[in-house]
Amino acid sequence: MMDFEKLISQMTFEEKVGQLAQYNANVCMSIDGEITGPATQLGLKKEDVCKVGSVLNFSCVEDMQNIQKTHLENDRNKIPMVFMMDVIHGFRTIFPIPLGLACSFDTELAAECSKMAALEASANGVNVTFAPMVDYARDARWGRVMETCGEEPLLSSRIGAACVKAFQGDDMKNPDNIGACVKHFAGYGGAEAGRDYNTVDLAERTLREFYFPAYKACIDAGAKLLMPSFNSLNGIPSVANKWLMNKVLREEWGYDGVVISDYNALGELITHGVAKNGEEAAKRAFDCGCDIEMCSSAYYHNLKKLVDDGVFNEKDIDAAVLRVLKFKEALGLFDDPYRGASRARADAVTLTKEHREIARKAAARSAVLLKNENVLPFSTDVKSIALIGPFADEHKILGMWKCNGRVEESVTVYEGAKAVLPNTKITVVKGCGNEFNDLDRSGFDEAVKAAKNADVVVLCLGEPMDYSGEGNCRTDIRLPGVQEELAAAVAAVNPNTAALIFNGRPLVLNEIAKTVPAILEMWFPGTEGGSAACDLLFGKANPEGKLTMSFPKATGQCPIYYNHTNTGRPKPVAKDEERLYYNSNYIDCGNLPLYSFGHGLSYSNFVYEDMAIDKAEMTKNSEINVKITLYNDSDKEGRETVQLYMRDMVASVVRPVQQLIDFKKVALAPHERKTVEFTVKEEMLRFWNFENELVSESGEFRLSTGYADHLVHPKMFTLK
Ligand code: BGC
Repeated sequence: MMDFEKLISQMTFEEKVGQLAQYNANVCMSIDGEITGPATQLGLKKEDVCKVGSVLNFSCVEDMQNIQKTHLENDRNKIPMVFMMDVIHGFRTIFPIPLGLACSFDTELAAECSKMAALEASANGVNVTFAPMVDYARDARWGRVMETCGEEPLLSSRIGAACVKAFQGDDMKNPDNIGACVKHFAGYGGAEAGRDYNTVDLAERTLREFYFPAYKACIDAGAKLLMPSFNSLNGIPSVANKWLMNKVLREEWGYDGVVISDYNALGELITHGVAKNGEEAAKRAFDCGCDIEMCSSAYYHNLKKLVDDGVFNEKDIDAAVLRVLKFKEALGLFDDPYRGASRARADAVTLTKEHREIARKAAARSAVLLKNENVLPFSTDVKSIALIGPFADEHKILGMWKCNGRVEESVTVYEGAKAVLPNTKITVVKGCGNEFNDLDRSGFDEAVKAAKNADVVVLCLGEPMDYSGEGNCRTDIRLPGVQEELAAAVAAVNPNTAALIFNGRPLVLNEIAKTVPAILEMWFPGTEGGSAACDLLFGKANPEGKLTMSFPKATGQCPIYYNHTNTGRPKPVAKDEERLYYNSNYIDCGNLPLYSFGHGLSYSNFVYEDMAIDKAEMTKNSEINVKITLYNDSDKEGRETVQLYMRDMVASVVRPVQQLIDFKKVALAPHERKTVEFTVKEEMLRFWNFENELVSESGEFRLSTGYADHLVHPKMFTLK
């Protein structure tokens, strides 16, 4: 352990403030040259640029090396900079968007992908990733649902924790590992009307029950960095929200890591109207334990004055600097400021064959077979295939936050098909575009002709990459343009038609579901997307993904989520399409989603034969053993996510009608029968009561399996 107290005591105030600043690489590159635009806009003086402690968004390992070298030559304290980047679903080898990967319900796979990302990123000079993003999301209009795990807190918690452990490893000093930054704390996904950055008003109970668990799980898994969210939460933007940052995060959860603001979030305190100027913004954020300010300069210009005026004590500044220095030390930067990154190492580990294989497996396991009327898998003996639609030979399938991923390195569906079936005739017809204003139907005739002449048809549909992601929200989440019409025209002439959907959010697929007999949700699958799609289409892989966000029947159903409460006038599931008077329903649409949470078909036929519990009563100190019997009634081996749901029948506050309390992935050989066991403990029955205490209440509970809105084998028990 270095003697940081001594080091800090020797630092000037400006040097300390430098450790609390993060800027884009182009700012820091102006150290040795003329001070240019970006640094000038922030009002930085040339002599202070070399004091900046951390960098984001550099472009390559040589940039990192140059910036670090120049910095160390100019910084008399020789404190290395830390280099951060948004490595969200891969560095150069891109795996599926997080929402897709979550559908695998496979924490080992999430860890494997994160390790791969860490290896590539670290070799290329990245020390820390701004991931995992574990915002809880219920509204598919919001563009950033693509970065989330969806509408289930337990799943987000398990995947988030697995990613943190995989990024950081046992020892962050190991140069193959990187630091993890959990974000965006808190409630960012609760943006009103699904519009990014919008106001978030959520009851404390709702926050604690649904929104908080995944952040907490990541912290418990050892995340050393945390980013507050942009949004105002119950009236105060997160970075200035004392209740959130001081009471919940630091006091209750005991978080002692570093807090970094989101991009210009301190500047935005002024725009939000909760700070008059930079001084007030700096005061509010620093008061809430924000250590590093990203891409604005409120600290740089105001912390000195705030200390001189006695608002803060210099010791408070020292404490923040100490947290940053300890973080840098934990990353091994004081031992090797370059952490072994070099062009040679980068080239050796980036986009390797092995990494492409991982990305291919991940894309196949993330896909969700939504519908299949005996169409898939297609035989590999087919003589001719027609690939129809805007994604038939499209490289832009990486998804947003593709980091250093290059679209030209991705495998399109067409390229995937050629590789899987080299001797088959493949016809590609685009048919139409995929944007809102692509209303041209002149390609339909050629598409229909190709469909008529092919043994099988694959419709390749979806929304463009930049229709989801940060700032990319939609008020109508159907397939853009005339893709629904194209699908109907094509499917009408060839019954052997399956649709692949490429997208960054749940879409309204009613029309496609009416006309096309098989639908395979691919998400944005990443570098090996086309290969994975063809593995699935032609039975080399067996679909195993399950939805982690509901697919609504109409955009107007949003937000729609499986773990909702009952209301006083619940609509019976059997009458979902009927108009009921004075009922909690719509007059023009059912309440149920088109495809529910947990839904996903397989080429195997999994039969949930039975669920048994070993007792009908439990106490706070005893447990219930649950045994679910699953049979693979098919000739295909496959993997299934067995889901255990609970409902608290009567409680002091309204409870969800169904709540996932555990899940397990199992592999079954053809005609194999397996018993999957779960243990129900009292802690799984707890909830946040009206007084915001975490309690369990005695009474009746129901357990069931299956998937949301389609639960089977209910069993009741009592908690004494
Ligand atoms: C996003 C963050 C991201 C940051 C740095 C912001 O706009 O909200 O998720 O980590 O930029 O790129």
